[in-house]
Amino acid sequence: MAMALLGVLTILAVLAILAPAPQTAGAARGNTGDGAAPALALTALLAFVTMCIGAYVSSSYAGLACLTFPSCDGSLLGHNAAQLVQMLHRIAAGSFALIALIATWTSLSVSSPRVRTFAILGCALVFVQIVLGFANVAWQLPLALREAHAANAQLTFLMFVIAAVLAALEPVRATEPLPERAAATAQRIATNP
Ligand code: HEM
Repeated sequence: MAMALLGVLTILAVLAILAPAPQTAGAARGNTGDGAAPALALTALLAFVTMCIGAYVSSSYAGLACLTFPSCDGSLLGHNAAQLVQMLHRIAAGSFALIALIATWTSLSVSSPRVRTFAILGCALVFVQIVLGFANVAWQLPLALREAHAANAQLTFLMFVIAAVLAALEPVRATEPLPERAAATAQRIATNP
């Protein structure tokens, strides 16, 4: 719930501070959102799900239930409840990393520079997060590494929340060079006054 609250407050802050009021004629006609917005939003959602499972791993003392990589004693889902939850966390983390890569790759070709920046930062943090996760298991949960894993998870989640909100709000597609963008906007206004 704390992460959901933080996510919503971050969205409000982005709307209030970072997102400018739409200034182009196209934006005034509702021409907002770039093509990466759904993928970035899905990435933020997967981060949230992975964090929820991670919190369950931590609070159910399942952090050291599986000491082998990548499988758990040769099994994909483990042999008991603690191992199952640990492996579900790893599978969710892998899916999150994959979708993060796809979303960031998509944003490179269709999004504005600031959306790309947040997506790339988020993507880099995902890989730091995975390294921290494995380090936690390898070194048997030292306090500093546990806290680093928890803190970095929140930072990663927020990067994709911000990227998704900005991508959904961008008034024009940044891929189109400026003259073509202006021509497309003029065309839209002419056909839909
Ligand atoms: C990349 C996406 C990942 C995210 C967003 C994520 C997030 C989290 C979160 C939020 C927690 C709860 C921390 C707490 O309550 O203090 C957690 C716990 C944990 N995660 Fe991850 N994690 C990820 C990947 C991984 C990976 C790849 C591993 C590798 C095994 C891993 C291993 C663990 C372990 C062992 C715990 C329990 C730590 C403890 O007992 O305090 N995580 N994770």
